[in-house]
Amino acid sequence: MNMTPKETVAYLNEYVIGQDEAKKTIAIALRTRFRRMQLDEELQDDIMPKNILMIGSTGVGKTEIARRLAKLMNLPFIKVEASKYTEVGFVGRDVESMVRDLVMASIDIVKKEHQAKNIEQVGNYVLDAIVDKLLPPLPLMASNEKKEEYKFSRERMIERVLSGEMDDKIIEIEIPKSSLEFNDTNLPPEMAKVQESFSQMFAGLNKQDLKKEVCVFDAKHILKAEAGEKLLDMQGIHSEALKRAAQGGIIFLDEIDKIAVSSKNEGRNDPGKEGVQRDLLPIVEGSSVSTKFGQIKTDHILFIAAGAFHVSKPSDLIPELQGRFPLRVELNPMDEESLYLILTQTKSSLLRQYEALLKVEGMELSFDDEAIRALAKLAQSANEKTEDIGARRLHTVIEKVLEDISFNADERAGEKVVITKELVHEKLDKLVEDEDLARYIL
Ligand SMILES: Nc1ncnc2c1ncn2[C@@H]1O[C@H](COP(=O)(O)OP(=O)(O)OP(=O)(O)O)[C@@H](O)[C@H]1O
Ligand SMILES: [Mg+2]
Repeated sequence: MNMTPKETVAYLNEYVIGQDEAKKTIAIALRTRFRRMQLDEELQDDIMPKNILMIGSTGVGKTEIARRLAKLMNLPFIKVEASKYTEVGFVGRDVESMVRDLVMASIDIVKKEHQAKNIEQVGNYVLDAIVDKLLPPLPLMASNEKKEEYKFSRERMIERVLSGEMDDKIIEIEIPKSSLEFNDTNLPPEMAKVQESFSQMFAGLNKQDLKKEVCVFDAKHILKAEAGEKLLDMQGIHSEALKRAAQGGIIFLDEIDKIAVSSKNEGRNDPGKEGVQRDLLPIVEGSSVSTKFGQIKTDHILFIAAGAFHVSKPSDLIPELQGRFPLRVELNPMDEESLYLILTQTKSSLLRQYEALLKVEGMELSFDDEAIRALAKLAQSANEKTEDIGARRLHTVIEKVLEDISFNADERAGEKVVITKELVHEKLDKLVEDEDLARYIL
C-alpha cells in the first residue's frame, strides 16, 4: 500500500502497455489514501477520495489496470458490472450488495494474514491430533518411567509423521459436522441472520461429530482447515476486515456506460438504468451499509468506474453521479505498435502463454520477430475493417495461426517449431482481406 506513485506505475508498466494517464491518475489516488492515513483523525475524516472515471473503448486495458492493481496492493477489491443491476429481476435489488461483497473480500485478506501468523500453532494442533490417533493413550496411573518412555515415543512419532513416513496409515478422525454453510452475501443482513439461526437450529439437532477414516496424509489437510477455523479469532478478523474495507477498499464499477441513458433515445427513458444510478448515489457519496458483520461507512471507499461510452457519453449519466467522479481519464485506442508491444513486452504476454502451454506437450514454440510484427499488423487491420475490439483481437488472431499446431501437438513432441512471417500470412491474409470472413472468424 505504501508504494510511491512512481513505483506503482513501474509495476503496472510490466503488464499494461501505454495508457500512461490512467496509470498515473490511479497511482496518485492510491498514494493519496496512504498519505491520508498518516494524518490525525479529524483531518482524515475530511479528506474524501477522488473517484475516477476511466473512459476508453473495449479491450484497451481498463479492467486490466484495475485487476493488476488489486493484486499488487493487497487491498480489498471487487469488480462489479454496473449493468448487472439493471437486468430483469435485478431492478430494485439492492446495489448495496457490492459493499457487502467488498467486506467479504476484505475478510478473505485478513483471514489469510491471520492464518499465516498462526501457521506454527496450526501445525502443532494438527500434529498433536494425528499423533494422538497413532499412539495408544497413556494409562492414567502410569509410572514416571512409563511417562518418560511415552514422551520419547511420542517425539519419535512426531518425527515420523512430519517426514511423511506415516502418510499411508489409516486413522479415524472426527470432523465437526459443520452446519450447512450459507454464504450468500447478497442477502440483506436481516435475512442472513434468519438463515444463520436456522442452520444453527439444525446443527443442534445433529450434534455429534462426523467420524471418518482417512489416511494420515489426508488427515493433515482436513485437520489443518479445521484448526484454522478453531484457532482464529473470527470476531477480531471481522472487525478488522470491516475497518480495512471502509478505509482502503476499492470498488471497480465496470460497464458504467451501460447504465447511462443515451441522449439519443430521449423519448425512451429507461427507469431501470436511472434507478440504478440513483441507487448508486448514496453509496458513492458515503452512507452506512449494514452487513452481517456490522455497519460499514462507504465514505472512504475508492470508486473507479470504467466504460467505453460508445453509445452514451459521460454527460448522459445523471448529473449528481457525474459529479461524484471528478477525475476523468481517457484511454487511447490500440494501434499497431501498442499491439506489438503487448505481445512482446508484457510479463505474461499471449506469446509466452502459448509457449508455456505447448511446452507441456514437449514442443518448443518460438516466434520470429517479423512474425510478431505481422500478427500485430493483421490484428490492427482486422480491428479497422470490422469492429475495434482492441487488444482482445490478438487472442483470436493468434488462436487462428496456432490452431493446427495446437491440434497436432501430441504428434510433434520434441520438435522445435518457429512461427514465421510466412506462416502468419498464410493463415490470416485471406481472413483479414475478406471483410465478411473476418467478421465471423476473427
Ligand atoms: N494496454 C494494454 N496492455 C496490455 N494488455 C492489454 C492492454 N489493453 C488490453 N490488454 C489485454 O486485452 C485484454 C482485454 O483488456 P481489458 O479487459 O482491460 O479490456 P477493457 O478495456 O476492460 O474492455 P471492456 O470495455 O470490453 O471491458 C486483456 O487480456 C488484456 O491483457
Ligand atoms: Mg473491462
